[in-house]
Amino acid sequence: MADQSPIPSDIVALADYERAAATRLDAAAWAYLAGGAADGLTLRRNREAFDAIRLQPRVLWDMAGASTRTELLGTALAHPILLAPIASHRLFHPDGERAVAVAAGATGTGMVVSTEATTSLEDIPALAKAPFWFQLYMQADRGFTQSLVARAEAAGYGAIVVTVDAPVSLRNEEQRIGFRLPAGLEPVNLRGMPSRPAIQAGPTESPVFRGLLDGAPGWADLEWLCAVTQLPVLAKGILGANDAERAVAAGVAGIVVSNHGGRALDGAPATIEALPAIAERIKGRVPLLLDGGIRRGTDVVKALALGASAVLLGRPYVMALAVGGVAGVAHALTIIRTELEVAMTLTGCASIEEIDESVIWRA
Ligand code: FNR
Ligand code: LAC
Repeated sequence: MADQSPIPSDIVALADYERAAATRLDAAAWAYLAGGAADGLTLRRNREAFDAIRLQPRVLWDMAGASTRTELLGTALAHPILLAPIASHRLFHPDGERAVAVAAGATGTGMVVSTEATTSLEDIPALAKAPFWFQLYMQADRGFTQSLVARAEAAGYGAIVVTVDAPVSLRNEEQRIGFRLPAGLEPVNLRGMPSRPAIQAGPTESPVFRGLLDGAPGWADLEWLCAVTQLPVLAKGILGANDAERAVAAGVAGIVVSNHGGRALDGAPATIEALPAIAERIKGRVPLLLDGGIRRGTDVVKALALGASAVLLGRPYVMALAVGGVAGVAHALTIIRTELEVAMTLTGCASIEEIDESVIWRA
């Protein structure tokens, strides 16, 4: 009898899921998932910068009792790899966010659920067995925004991750192929949001400054958010020490160093390049998380060594979802966690706390 596993046996690394997903997804879904902003400069840079960092091996280290366990905002985690918020999982697999929540639970992986999920935020908690947080896009209607936060609190989410880096974006690959959500899929959490009369920019006016930016949040809104919720708030999408400082002053409990996977400002630095200066300024006052280009356990070690407390994985888990549903996502998470353990062993780190600058090779 043929192998019953839904996962092709030649999938052994996250890059293999990318290859397999590219052949399974239609061109429009692929453009949406794999693409970056404009020319993809920052998208590529996220990877190039990780590849350019070398690690210092340490041998014959005592690994007795080694573990990937860690703690974030008072919550215990089996390992420091979380799932980044990604919109519209049902575009990639009919079971969508539900499948991802089950796989995250089965592997002890924290999950950040997008405002723009295609599954109601209330449907996730029953399936999740690991920490789950809610990613918030502040909506122009602040009353509705507050109701989203209240729903996340009531449903048991452990933190609010407010995304600050993409009030507008420019995705040429999506534009060329005419990407739009297929009929039947919608961001269900936004149902019932009061619609505002669309501002029509006149022919000589900017459609961005007079239109798209209407209702975009500012620093006062971040302070407001930190004040209206009991939950810890993390600001996602910070790439500079000054903005990080300002976010801490606004009351955030954590920062996600992110360039939205290269989907926001094209030309922004790689996140791993931006991290050291932010870590230097914040000096441990709040935990720093990082996403963008995490593809290997060695990337996790590099990020932790340079100042992150944890990382988030983006596109690869969605590619695994497209290929194999729950089994695919769980397998992908097992792959990268295993790689992390191998990398820890070969750099002589028996615990997450032991991963520091000394594992970075210096000429
Ligand atoms: C995203 N990202 C994102 N971020 C967010 O805060 N809310 C969202 O709804 C989405 N949606 C989304 C959709 C898709 C298709 C992608 C690829 C990304 C950004 C995401 O959380 C994360 O920052 C990056 O994906 C991390 O980079 P990698 O791991 O994909 O390189
Ligand atoms: C994106 C939005 C949903 O990156 O954050 O597609």
